[in-house]
Parts: sequence; structure tokens; C-alpha cells
Amino acid sequence: MQITNYKTKQEEVVCTTIMPTRMIPDMVDDVRESLLTTPRSLSPKYFYDERGSELFDQICSTPEYYPTRTENHLLSRYAVDIINKTSPDQILELGSGYAVKTRRLFDACQETSQNCIYAPLDVCEEVLIEAAQKLSEEYDWLGLNPLLGDYHGGLGNLPATQGSHLFVFLGSTIGNFEHADAQDFINEVYKAMRYGDHLLIGVDRVKENHVLHAAYNDAQGITAEFNLNVLHVLNRELNANFNTEEFTHSATFNADKERIEMRLISNTDQHVHIDELGESIQFDRGEEILTEISQKYTYTGIEEMLKQANFTITDHYEDEDAYFSLVLASK
Ligand code: SAH
Ligand code: AVI
Repeated sequence: MQITNYKTKQEEVVCTTIMPTRMIPDMVDDVRESLLTTPRSLSPKYFYDERGSELFDQICSTPEYYPTRTENHLLSRYAVDIINKTSPDQILELGSGYAVKTRRLFDACQETSQNCIYAPLDVCEEVLIEAAQKLSEEYDWLGLNPLLGDYHGGLGNLPATQGSHLFVFLGSTIGNFEHADAQDFINEVYKAMRYGDHLLIGVDRVKENHVLHAAYNDAQGITAEFNLNVLHVLNRELNANFNTEEFTHSATFNADKERIEMRLISNTDQHVHIDELGESIQFDRGEEILTEISQKYTYTGIEEMLKQANFTITDHYEDEDAYFSLVLASK
């Protein structure tokens, strides 16, 4: 696919829809499969309606959620180095959200006179549009090509553009994949890249339990609201009747698997009807829905995953507490 319609400032933002390259279940089939069978779970992609994306943004500013500010510091410090090493004609970001931290890369492009197009890929259209509108005001030289799509559907239909590409996958979103799926995804990113392209990936590291626990149980209760918001999404999209007051947020560190596991726990014995599925679910008091895993990595683990996919690691940037890694790798 050739880019023909990317927008620059003053123009209305139009998202290019990225068609999946393989079959992925629609929400009805996906939720039927994951929520009607035990252990019950939901894909974390359903967190991100407009409200969920706003709540995630608020989580990023809580004092407890260290990943965002740590990664942002690393980007502020090393973005010029990254841009000098990669000279990107296009920055393609997977799961871009509001692209708050990506601005550090645009600042560095500006500083080094590197002209480029930014192609953010996300499942949430409202966020893509809002982010692109703001970016076009802040960086009038930046070409914008927002891509609406689900990266679980494959990366084979990403727009092919000339020149060098910097793929960006920030925020440790790779942690929201099970290990095997993370490896498959990194392999797929490698496949979508051309020789000479680079990948910049941000990954949260294994650390003390109390730091991790606090990050997913902030005192203001924003993470709890974010978690519960997925029930509002099901109510709206699948015509369900979840009462969010009858579920409680839980986020615990599973030390064996080195990951945070986020759940919603039923406060009572209750029935929930999901119209679009034509089904009712009986939840027992204490019954759980797994809504997200957030895998934490050792540096060796990150290295293995990238090497397994055939990447060459060119740089590793970490903070002095080794809380977070930014890794630059090339194909
Ligand atoms: N990269 C940003 C946002 C991280 S939040 C940061 O580091 O702060 C995760 C983002 O990934 C959200 O914007 C969400 O909408 C998007 N996302 C989640 N699942 C996705 C999927 N399957 N395909 C594409 N984007 C997805
Ligand atoms: C987007 N993702 C990497 C976040 C994380 O830390 O796993 C989502 C999140 N969930 C709760 N807080 C933040």
C-alpha cells in the first residue's frame, strides 16, 4: 500500500484503516470465547475506548506509575542519539495512544533537521484523531498518517513507504502479551521491516514487588477505574448489564511469572446478561476475570526475545535504578 493521503497542518485528520492480514475474531466471538469459559479473561485491547484511553493517560501522571516518566526521561536524554543513528524518513508507532513520549523523538528530529512522517497505529480512532490534530499544531513540519487497526491482525498491510523506517513500540505494551505471543509479535515486526530499518522498544524491568504493586494500585484509584471501564465497554458494545459497583479491581504481582496480573473480582453472586452473545453469566462471589497481564522483563529476557527474532541490538538505554529499558535494534 502506498501512502497518498497523509495530512499536514490545517487539514482535517483522516485515518487510514489497516486491514488485518489474518482472521481475527470480532468482539462478539472474542468475548464469547474468553469470558464464557473459565478461567474467564478479556483482551486488554477493550480497555481503550475514548474514556479508557483518557484514564490510561491519567494513570501515566500518577506518582506511583513510574514507567511513563522513566521512559520519558530516557527519551529526553537519548532521542537525539536515536535519531542520529536511525535517520528515519518514517516513524511508525505501534499502539501509539496520545503519543506523549514520542514527542521527544519529534523534538530530536527538529533539532537535527530530520524531516519525517509519523504513522501512529492504534485501535482507538478518537485518540488517533486527537493526537494527530495536536501534533499538526505543535510540529507543523511533521507529515502525519494515522493508521487505524488492530496489530493482532498482522502487520502485512502497513503502508509501504520509501526511505528508512523507525518502528517504535513504547510504554512496555509488549508486557501485555503472553511470552509466546510477544515473541511471535516481535518476529512479525521484524518481518514487516526492511533491511536497515530500526526498532525502538520500551520494556519495563523486573523490580521490587512493592514498587510494582503500587504502580498498579494507585492511591487515587485511577487504575481501578481504568480496569472497571472495560465493563462499561461491554455494556455499550455488547448490550450487557454489568454493574461496575459489583466488581472490584485487583492487581497483584505474580512473582513466579514475574508479571502483574490485573483482574476484576465479583463482589457478590450475580447474573450478568450479554445481549449480543445471547447469554447470561453466573458470577459467584469472588470469581475473577483476568483483564490484563503486564509482564516484566530482565534485560537478558529482552535481549533473547530480540535476538530470537534476528534483530541486532545496537543500543540499550536504562535509568540508574534499572527500572526501564529502551532498546534500539536494527534489521
Ligand atoms: N504507547 C503509548 C500508549 C500505551 S497504552 C504509551 O507508551 O504511553 C496502549 C496503547 O495501545 C493504547 O493506545 C491502545 O489503544 C493501543 N492498543 C491496545 N491494543 C491494541 C491493538 N490490538 N492494536 C493496536 N493498538 C492497540
Ligand atoms: C499499556 N500497558 C503497557 C500498561 C501496563 O502497564 O501494562 C497498561 C496499564 N494497566 C494498568 N496500568 C497501566
